[in-house]
Amino acid sequence: MLGRVTQVMSWFASPDDAGRRLGEAGYLADAATATTAYLAGALEKPLLVEGPAGVGKTELAKAVARATGADLVRLQCYEGLDEARALYEWNYKKQLLRIQADQGSADGASWEETHDDIFTEEFLLTRPLLTAIRRDEPTVLLVDEVDKADVEVEGLLLEVLSDFQVTIPELGTVAAVRRPLVVLTSNRTRELSEAVKRRCLFLHLDYPTAERERAIVTGQVPDLDDRIAGQLVATIGRLRDLDLKKAPSIAESVDWARTLVALQIEDLDEAAVDQTLGVVLKHASDQAKAVRELKLRS
Ligand SMILES: Nc1ncnc2c1ncn2[C@@H]1O[C@H](COP(=O)(O)OP(=O)(O)O)[C@@H](O)[C@H]1O
Ligand SMILES: [Mg+2]
Repeated sequence: MLGRVTQVMSWFASPDDAGRRLGEAGYLADAATATTAYLAGALEKPLLVEGPAGVGKTELAKAVARATGADLVRLQCYEGLDEARALYEWNYKKQLLRIQADQGSADGASWEETHDDIFTEEFLLTRPLLTAIRRDEPTVLLVDEVDKADVEVEGLLLEVLSDFQVTIPELGTVAAVRRPLVVLTSNRTRELSEAVKRRCLFLHLDYPTAERERAIVTGQVPDLDDRIAGQLVATIGRLRDLDLKKAPSIAESVDWARTLVALQIEDLDEAAVDQTLGVVLKHASDQAKAVRELKLRS
Protein backbone atom coordinates (compact mmCIF):
# COMPACT_ATOMS: atom_id res chain seq x y z
CA MET A 1 0.00 0.00 0.00
CA LEU A 2 1.34 3.40 -0.91
CA GLY A 3 2.39 5.55 1.97
CA ARG A 4 3.10 2.48 4.03
CA VAL A 5 6.45 1.82 2.46
CA THR A 6 8.40 2.44 5.59
CA GLN A 7 7.64 1.41 9.10
CA VAL A 8 10.20 3.79 10.50
CA MET A 9 8.48 6.87 11.80
CA SER A 10 9.86 10.03 10.29
CA TRP A 11 9.60 12.98 12.58
CA PHE A 12 8.74 15.76 10.16
CA ALA A 13 8.47 15.58 6.40
CA SER A 14 10.00 19.00 5.70
CA PRO A 15 10.72 22.34 7.40
CA ASP A 16 7.26 23.54 6.33
CA ASP A 17 5.68 20.43 7.76
CA ALA A 18 7.54 21.02 11.03
CA GLY A 19 6.37 24.64 11.18
CA ARG A 20 2.80 23.69 10.45
CA ARG A 21 2.57 20.81 12.90
CA LEU A 22 4.35 22.70 15.66
CA GLY A 23 1.82 25.49 15.07
CA GLU A 24 -1.04 23.03 15.41
CA ALA A 25 0.55 21.90 18.68
CA GLY A 26 0.44 25.50 19.90
CA TYR A 27 4.05 26.43 19.21
CA LEU A 28 4.70 29.25 16.79
CA ALA A 29 8.10 28.58 15.29
CA ASP A 30 10.03 30.93 13.04
CA ALA A 31 11.69 29.57 9.90
CA ALA A 32 15.01 28.78 11.60
CA THR A 33 13.30 26.89 14.42
CA ALA A 34 11.07 24.89 12.08
CA THR A 35 14.02 24.00 9.86
CA THR A 36 16.18 22.91 12.78
CA ALA A 37 13.38 20.82 14.28
CA TYR A 38 12.96 19.11 10.92
CA LEU A 39 16.70 18.47 10.62
CA ALA A 40 16.97 17.06 14.14
CA GLY A 41 14.53 14.35 13.12
CA ALA A 42 15.79 13.80 9.59
CA LEU A 43 19.48 13.59 10.55
CA GLU A 44 18.80 11.93 13.90
CA LYS A 45 21.01 14.49 15.54
CA PRO A 46 20.51 15.91 19.02
CA LEU A 47 19.42 19.53 19.04
CA LEU A 48 21.02 22.01 21.39
CA VAL A 49 18.78 25.03 22.01
CA GLU A 50 20.41 28.00 23.67
CA GLY A 51 19.01 31.37 24.68
CA PRO A 52 17.77 33.51 27.55
CA ALA A 53 15.15 32.28 30.00
CA GLY A 54 11.56 32.11 28.87
CA VAL A 55 12.01 32.22 25.09
CA GLY A 56 10.49 28.80 24.45
CA LYS A 57 13.40 26.35 24.64
CA THR A 58 11.73 23.79 26.89
CA GLU A 59 8.41 24.35 25.21
CA LEU A 60 9.94 23.53 21.82
CA ALA A 61 10.84 20.03 23.00
CA LYS A 62 7.37 19.52 24.45
CA ALA A 63 5.77 20.83 21.27
CA VAL A 64 7.84 18.46 19.10
CA ALA A 65 6.52 15.60 21.22
CA ARG A 66 2.93 16.82 20.94
CA ALA A 67 3.23 17.46 17.21
CA THR A 68 4.63 14.02 16.46
CA GLY A 69 2.66 12.00 18.97
CA ALA A 70 5.88 10.98 20.73
CA ASP A 71 6.21 10.63 24.47
CA LEU A 72 8.40 13.06 26.33
CA VAL A 73 11.11 11.79 28.66
CA ARG A 74 12.64 14.62 30.63
CA LEU A 75 15.92 14.88 32.44
CA GLN A 76 15.97 18.07 34.47
CA CYS A 77 19.57 19.03 35.16
CA TYR A 78 20.79 20.64 38.36
CA GLU A 79 23.99 21.03 40.30
CA GLY A 80 24.96 17.66 41.75
CA LEU A 81 23.01 15.60 39.22
CA ASP A 82 24.86 12.31 38.93
CA GLU A 83 24.83 9.04 37.04
CA ALA A 84 22.44 7.46 39.53
CA ARG A 85 19.84 10.14 38.79
CA ALA A 86 20.52 10.57 35.10
CA LEU A 87 21.20 7.05 33.87
CA TYR A 88 20.42 4.18 36.22
CA GLU A 89 21.11 2.83 39.67
CA TRP A 90 20.84 -0.51 41.36
CA ASN A 91 17.99 -0.99 43.76
CA TYR A 92 20.15 -1.69 46.81
CA LYS A 93 17.27 -2.25 49.17
CA LYS A 94 15.76 -4.91 46.98
CA GLN A 95 19.16 -6.50 46.37
CA LEU A 96 19.75 -6.70 50.09
CA LEU A 97 16.41 -8.35 50.67
CA ARG A 98 17.18 -10.93 48.01
CA ILE A 99 20.58 -11.67 49.55
CA GLN A 100 18.98 -12.15 52.94
CA ALA A 101 16.28 -14.36 51.50
CA ASP A 102 18.85 -16.50 49.65
CA GLN A 103 20.96 -16.92 52.76
CA GLY A 104 17.96 -17.86 54.85
CA SER A 105 16.63 -20.47 52.43
CA ALA A 106 17.25 -24.17 53.15
CA ASP A 107 19.05 -25.06 49.91
CA GLY A 108 21.21 -21.92 50.30
CA ALA A 109 22.10 -20.40 46.95
CA SER A 110 25.81 -19.90 46.40
CA TRP A 111 27.18 -16.37 46.45
CA GLU A 112 27.86 -16.58 42.70
CA GLU A 113 24.25 -17.45 42.03
CA THR A 114 23.03 -14.66 44.24
CA HIS A 115 25.42 -12.20 42.65
CA ASP A 116 24.30 -13.11 39.13
CA ASP A 117 20.74 -12.84 40.27
CA ILE A 118 20.83 -9.41 41.88
CA PHE A 119 22.51 -7.66 38.96
CA THR A 120 19.69 -8.26 36.58
CA GLU A 121 16.89 -6.25 35.08
CA GLU A 122 14.68 -6.87 38.07
CA PHE A 123 16.97 -4.84 40.31
CA LEU A 124 17.68 -2.02 37.90
CA LEU A 125 16.18 1.42 38.43
CA THR A 126 16.23 3.19 35.10
CA ARG A 127 16.57 6.95 35.00
CA PRO A 128 15.62 9.26 32.10
CA LEU A 129 18.64 8.71 29.81
CA LEU A 130 18.39 4.94 29.97
CA THR A 131 14.60 5.03 29.85
CA ALA A 132 14.66 7.07 26.65
CA ILE A 133 17.19 4.75 25.00
CA ARG A 134 15.23 1.62 25.76
CA ARG A 135 11.79 2.72 24.68
CA ASP A 136 10.52 1.25 21.45
CA GLU A 137 7.83 3.87 21.06
CA PRO A 138 8.66 7.29 19.52
CA THR A 139 10.35 9.37 22.19
CA VAL A 140 11.51 12.93 22.61
CA LEU A 141 14.28 13.09 25.19
CA LEU A 142 14.50 16.52 26.79
CA VAL A 143 17.72 17.20 28.65
CA ASP A 144 16.69 20.46 30.22
CA GLU A 145 19.09 23.17 31.40
CA VAL A 146 22.29 21.18 30.78
CA ASP A 147 24.37 24.17 31.78
CA LYS A 148 23.14 23.74 35.36
CA ALA A 149 24.65 20.27 35.67
CA ASP A 150 28.30 19.74 36.53
CA VAL A 151 30.73 19.29 33.66
CA GLU A 152 31.04 15.56 34.44
CA VAL A 153 27.46 14.98 33.34
CA GLU A 154 28.50 15.93 29.82
CA GLY A 155 30.66 12.81 29.79
CA LEU A 156 27.56 10.72 30.41
CA LEU A 157 25.68 12.56 27.75
CA LEU A 158 28.38 11.98 25.17
CA GLU A 159 27.95 8.24 25.11
CA VAL A 160 24.23 8.62 24.82
CA LEU A 161 24.34 11.39 22.22
CA SER A 162 26.98 9.92 19.95
CA ASP A 163 26.23 6.22 20.03
CA PHE A 164 22.74 6.12 21.47
CA GLN A 165 23.87 3.50 23.88
CA VAL A 166 24.61 3.07 27.54
CA THR A 167 27.10 0.69 29.12
CA ILE A 168 26.16 -0.98 32.37
CA PRO A 169 29.19 -2.94 33.58
CA GLU A 170 27.15 -5.75 35.13
CA LEU A 171 24.72 -6.07 32.23
CA GLY A 172 26.60 -5.01 29.14
CA THR A 173 25.83 -2.39 26.54
CA VAL A 174 22.27 -1.32 25.99
CA ALA A 175 21.82 0.09 22.51
CA ALA A 176 18.83 2.18 21.52
CA VAL A 177 15.98 0.14 20.11
CA ARG A 178 14.73 3.27 18.47
CA ARG A 179 16.58 6.55 18.52
CA PRO A 180 14.89 9.23 20.53
CA LEU A 181 14.82 12.78 19.23
CA VAL A 182 17.04 14.56 21.73
CA VAL A 183 16.63 18.20 22.68
CA LEU A 184 19.12 19.80 25.05
CA THR A 185 18.46 23.26 26.41
CA SER A 186 20.88 25.72 27.94
CA ASN A 187 20.57 29.21 29.39
CA ARG A 188 24.27 29.55 28.77
CA THR A 189 25.31 30.17 32.35
CA ARG A 190 28.45 28.35 31.20
CA GLU A 191 29.79 27.11 27.88
CA LEU A 192 29.15 23.47 27.11
CA SER A 193 32.10 21.35 26.03
CA GLU A 194 33.10 21.35 22.39
CA ALA A 195 32.62 17.58 22.38
CA VAL A 196 28.94 17.91 23.22
CA LYS A 197 28.43 20.77 20.80
CA ARG A 198 30.07 18.87 17.98
CA ARG A 199 27.43 16.18 18.21
CA CYS A 200 24.51 18.57 18.17
CA LEU A 201 22.64 20.79 15.82
CA PHE A 202 22.52 24.24 17.28
CA LEU A 203 19.63 26.66 17.57
CA HIS A 204 19.81 30.04 19.22
CA LEU A 205 16.42 31.19 20.38
CA ASP A 206 15.87 34.83 21.23
CA TYR A 207 12.92 37.07 21.97
CA PRO A 208 10.48 36.90 19.06
CA THR A 209 9.49 39.74 16.78
CA ALA A 210 6.55 41.84 18.00
CA GLU A 211 4.37 40.21 15.39
CA ARG A 212 5.19 36.65 16.46
CA GLU A 213 4.93 37.49 20.12
CA ARG A 214 1.50 38.96 19.52
CA ALA A 215 0.44 35.75 17.81
CA ILE A 216 1.84 33.67 20.68
CA VAL A 217 0.07 35.78 23.29
CA THR A 218 -3.31 35.85 21.55
CA GLY A 219 -2.95 32.15 20.80
CA GLN A 220 -2.67 31.41 24.50
CA VAL A 221 -5.02 34.10 25.77
CA PRO A 222 -7.77 34.26 23.17
CA ASP A 223 -9.88 36.60 25.32
CA LEU A 224 -7.31 39.35 25.04
CA ASP A 225 -8.55 42.37 23.14
CA ASP A 226 -6.70 42.89 19.86
CA ARG A 227 -5.76 46.47 20.54
CA ILE A 228 -4.44 45.67 24.01
CA ALA A 229 -2.41 42.82 22.55
CA GLY A 230 -0.69 45.38 20.33
CA GLN A 231 -0.08 47.71 23.27
CA LEU A 232 1.23 44.82 25.34
CA VAL A 233 3.87 43.60 22.89
CA ALA A 234 4.94 47.17 22.17
CA THR A 235 5.43 47.84 25.88
CA ILE A 236 7.25 44.54 26.35
CA GLY A 237 9.55 45.54 23.49
CA ARG A 238 10.31 48.88 25.15
CA LEU A 239 11.01 47.14 28.46
CA ARG A 240 13.43 44.74 26.77
CA ASP A 241 15.33 47.73 25.39
CA LEU A 242 15.90 49.09 28.90
CA ASP A 243 18.90 46.97 29.85
CA LEU A 244 17.22 45.44 32.86
CA LYS A 245 18.53 42.86 35.28
CA LYS A 246 15.91 40.44 33.95
CA ALA A 247 14.13 41.37 30.74
CA PRO A 248 10.54 40.14 30.48
CA SER A 249 10.23 36.82 28.64
CA ILE A 250 7.44 35.37 26.54
CA ALA A 251 6.17 33.61 29.64
CA GLU A 252 5.76 37.01 31.29
CA SER A 253 4.01 38.47 28.25
CA VAL A 254 1.49 35.63 28.45
CA ASP A 255 1.07 36.16 32.21
CA TRP A 256 0.57 39.84 31.63
CA ALA A 257 -2.10 39.17 29.03
CA ARG A 258 -3.94 36.90 31.49
CA THR A 259 -3.66 39.60 34.15
CA LEU A 260 -5.10 42.28 31.91
CA VAL A 261 -8.02 40.03 31.01
CA ALA A 262 -8.62 39.13 34.67
CA LEU A 263 -8.58 42.78 35.69
CA GLN A 264 -10.75 43.71 32.69
CA ILE A 265 -8.34 46.43 31.75
CA GLU A 266 -9.46 48.08 28.55
CA ASP A 267 -6.56 50.32 27.82
CA LEU A 268 -2.94 49.62 28.63
CA ASP A 269 -2.10 53.22 29.52
CA GLU A 270 0.67 54.36 31.88
CA ALA A 271 -1.51 53.84 34.94
CA ALA A 272 -2.44 50.30 33.93
CA VAL A 273 1.18 49.41 33.19
CA ASP A 274 2.27 50.85 36.52
CA GLN A 275 -0.43 48.94 38.37
CA THR A 276 0.47 45.55 36.86
CA LEU A 277 4.23 45.91 36.49
CA GLY A 278 4.88 43.20 39.09
CA VAL A 279 3.67 40.56 36.65
CA VAL A 280 6.36 41.50 34.17
CA LEU A 281 9.33 42.74 36.17
CA LYS A 282 10.48 40.82 39.23
CA HIS A 283 13.26 43.08 40.50
CA ALA A 284 12.58 46.30 42.43
CA SER A 285 15.40 48.04 40.59
CA ASP A 286 13.97 46.98 37.21
CA GLN A 287 10.56 48.30 38.20
CA ALA A 288 12.04 51.61 39.33
CA LYS A 289 13.89 51.93 36.04
CA ALA A 290 10.77 51.15 34.03
CA VAL A 291 8.71 53.70 35.97
CA ARG A 292 11.37 56.29 35.29
CA GLU A 293 12.12 55.52 31.65
CA LEU A 294 8.57 54.89 30.56
CA LYS A 295 7.38 57.89 32.56
CA LEU A 296 4.66 55.86 34.22
CA ARG A 297 4.12 58.31 37.07
CA SER A 298 3.84 62.02 36.47
N1 LIG B 1 7.14 29.91 20.00
C1 LIG B 1 6.26 29.81 20.99
N2 LIG B 1 4.97 29.48 20.75
C2 LIG B 1 4.08 29.38 21.75
N3 LIG B 1 4.36 29.61 23.04
C3 LIG B 1 5.62 29.94 23.36
C4 LIG B 1 6.63 30.03 22.36
N4 LIG B 1 7.78 30.38 22.96
C5 LIG B 1 7.52 30.47 24.26
N5 LIG B 1 6.22 30.21 24.52
C6 LIG B 1 5.57 30.30 25.82
O1 LIG B 1 6.52 30.78 26.75
C7 LIG B 1 6.56 29.94 27.89
C8 LIG B 1 7.98 29.85 28.40
O2 LIG B 1 8.73 29.08 27.55
P1 LIG B 1 9.79 28.01 28.08
O3 LIG B 1 9.95 26.99 27.01
O4 LIG B 1 9.44 27.52 29.41
O5 LIG B 1 11.09 28.93 28.17
P2 LIG B 1 12.60 28.49 28.35
O6 LIG B 1 13.28 29.04 27.14
O7 LIG B 1 13.06 29.19 29.59
O8 LIG B 1 12.66 27.00 28.46
C9 LIG B 1 6.00 28.62 27.45
O9 LIG B 1 5.30 27.98 28.46
C10 LIG B 1 5.04 29.01 26.35
O10 LIG B 1 3.78 29.28 26.92
MG1 LIG C 1 13.20 25.96 30.18
